Amino acid sequence: MSRRILVTNALPYANGPLHLGHMVGYLQADIWVRFQRMLGNEVHYVCADDAHGTPIMLAAEKAGVTPEAFIAAIRADHEKDFADFGVCFDHYHSTHTPENEALAGLIYSRLKAAGAISVRSIQQLYDPVRDMFLPDRYIKGECPKCGTADQYGDNCENCGAAYSPTDLKNPKSVVSGATPVMRDSEHYFFELPKFQDFLAGWLADADIHASIKAKLKEWFDGGLRAWDISRDAPYFGFPIPDAPGKFFYVWLDAPVGYMASFKAYSQKAGLNFDEFWSAGSSPELHHFIGKDIVNFHGLFWPAMLSGSGHRTPTALHVNGYLTVNGAKMSKSRGTFIKARTYLDAGLNPEYLRYYFAAKLGSGPEDLDLDLKDFQARINSDIVGKYVNLASRCAGFIERQFSGRLAADLGSIGALYTPQFDGAEAAALYDAGEYAAVVRLATNICDRANEQLQLHAPWKLASDESRRAELHAICSAAINTFRVVTMLLKPLLPQLAAQAERFLGIPPQQWSDLARPLLDHPIQPYQPLATRIDPKTVDAMLAEEASNSPAPAAPPPQPSPARGEGEKKPAIAASPTPAASDTIGIEDFSKVDLRIARIAEAGPVEGADKLLRLKLDLGPLGERQVFAGIKSAYAPETLVGRLTVCVANLAPRKMKFGMSEGMVLAASDERGGPFLLSPDAGAQPGMRIK
Ligand code: 2FM
Ligand code: ZN
Repeated sequence: MSRRILVTNALPYANGPLHLGHMVGYLQADIWVRFQRMLGNEVHYVCADDAHGTPIMLAAEKAGVTPEAFIAAIRADHEKDFADFGVCFDHYHSTHTPENEALAGLIYSRLKAAGAISVRSIQQLYDPVRDMFLPDRYIKGECPKCGTADQYGDNCENCGAAYSPTDLKNPKSVVSGATPVMRDSEHYFFELPKFQDFLAGWLADADIHASIKAKLKEWFDGGLRAWDISRDAPYFGFPIPDAPGKFFYVWLDAPVGYMASFKAYSQKAGLNFDEFWSAGSSPELHHFIGKDIVNFHGLFWPAMLSGSGHRTPTALHVNGYLTVNGAKMSKSRGTFIKARTYLDAGLNPEYLRYYFAAKLGSGPEDLDLDLKDFQARINSDIVGKYVNLASRCAGFIERQFSGRLAADLGSIGALYTPQFDGAEAAALYDAGEYAAVVRLATNICDRANEQLQLHAPWKLASDESRRAELHAICSAAINTFRVVTMLLKPLLPQLAAQAERFLGIPPQQWSDLARPLLDHPIQPYQPLATRIDPKTVDAMLAEEASNSPAPAAPPPQPSPARGEGEKKPAIAASPTPAASDTIGIEDFSKVDLRIARIAEAGPVEGADKLLRLKLDLGPLGERQVFAGIKSAYAPETLVGRLTVCVANLAPRKMKFGMSEGMVLAASDERGGPFLLSPDAGAQPGMRIK
């Protein structure tokens, strides 16, 4: 029996263009949707722009337009990017819509009636010039621990200390530059602890990767706390009914946007909204999200749904972050690649779909876009292996057999394509194990290409006595091409459509897999895929690097967007000193700079910007240091690398452990951090003088 499935993707913020980090989750979901449709399941796929919140309000103000005009322009760009990457939403909406306001209001009123909303006064920093309360990321000041200037209100990028904005010395509002003051304000809270038992049951049943369940359980075991769902005016959002001057926090109405988008779509498509959203409804509900927003989807959202008499999610599919060339995306290196820049460079969007899929499993692991590997993989897998099966054989069929495939492949058929009903591939797709599907497809291609090489039809072509053999070989290769086309169709929909035209067959369903094309006419072959020209990749990077913004910090976000990671480095080379700042050689020689080999590198629990490094200083032994370079380097890429370390810095006790030195990295508004490295031949422990 076919399944009824509603699929959603995390709603992108309407505050800027989509980048390739965003695309991981959208392509992952789109591939799943396309596969389920090929199986014959009823799938509805909706999304929307996440249009509310302080950053969007301020960005619109800065652009000199109304928030409505601002979000409308961004939405149009998002929709175009999605369409051009082949993301096949049935409907794309916005959270700033009447449907969403009505549904958010309904959910809130039901939660209130159920006693799950409370009101209490909290203290918060307030900007007296701009007349607004300030979210933590809108306050900067000096670190209360180490005194480093220009630190955000939540933690220090230099020493890693975590604190609240009220602890900052000389705090300033990022919005106006004014010194913030403390003010009381009444806030509305969603009483999450009331849902402890419900959530435990939901979590046990929901289809969620084990590592994510474990994370959710950790939060559970730490005790749930009430969630602050209101913000004070001025705020771009929905006013809370009967609460003058109060607005729903953006994260309250964001997931309701899934329902709102479906509502608008259901009216257009003649579907029954309640069949999909009322408590106990039978269609499945699958959310595709990034790992940074698991708490919203694994705690608040199911509790909101349950508390308001709605159905709860069937599954969360969680993806990791994107790195490019082994490091976090970086504007200065040009690797903070916008979806549009990729397209404008002339790169085929399907190649990115394929490459991401080739690296995606069902877990939330980060995914690396290694641009050299990307080119090699596409050129080899798609052009060299898959399309090759058709391009090498189509001419023989066309010229020597009037474009008709053989009626019988004989024993040759089995040599090319194993008896293949697709059950294994279907299970892998359903489980989100796309990398394994790609491996399966590549193995089939490898096997068929080996046979092709062995049988060498190009040598048989002139031998009239071996015509039947030539016909069978070429027909078998083209049938293998058909099988691989179908296997990869969710990844390469356009290419598959072209291939279907070449093969003279209608759009294929999964059940067609087991039906070989025999005594069947095909069309003249037209090139289906071309190799990636390395110049296009270089041009894309150059374009992004040339757009790398000057000094200002990235706009503050309520939560880090997936794949984003440009942060100020913790340890940077000093700017050129003014004349009065010069030091004598005797001062400089006090600093014991040594060559160090990075023996180990890993993340630091609870610190966004730091990496824990174990340095090998040769005869001086080993040191542990914390370096604020996580924004630019994936830890595994550092191991074994030589760098420069200040070896006689007094050890500092940090909340993560002792820091016994400092590695040197350069950075300024043009980019960084760039870790210093000696020339080849330097040895750990050598002194720099
Ligand atoms: O993190 C984000 O980018 C959010 N805009 C995702 C919202 S998903 C859903 F809840 F709306
Ligand atoms: Zn500090």
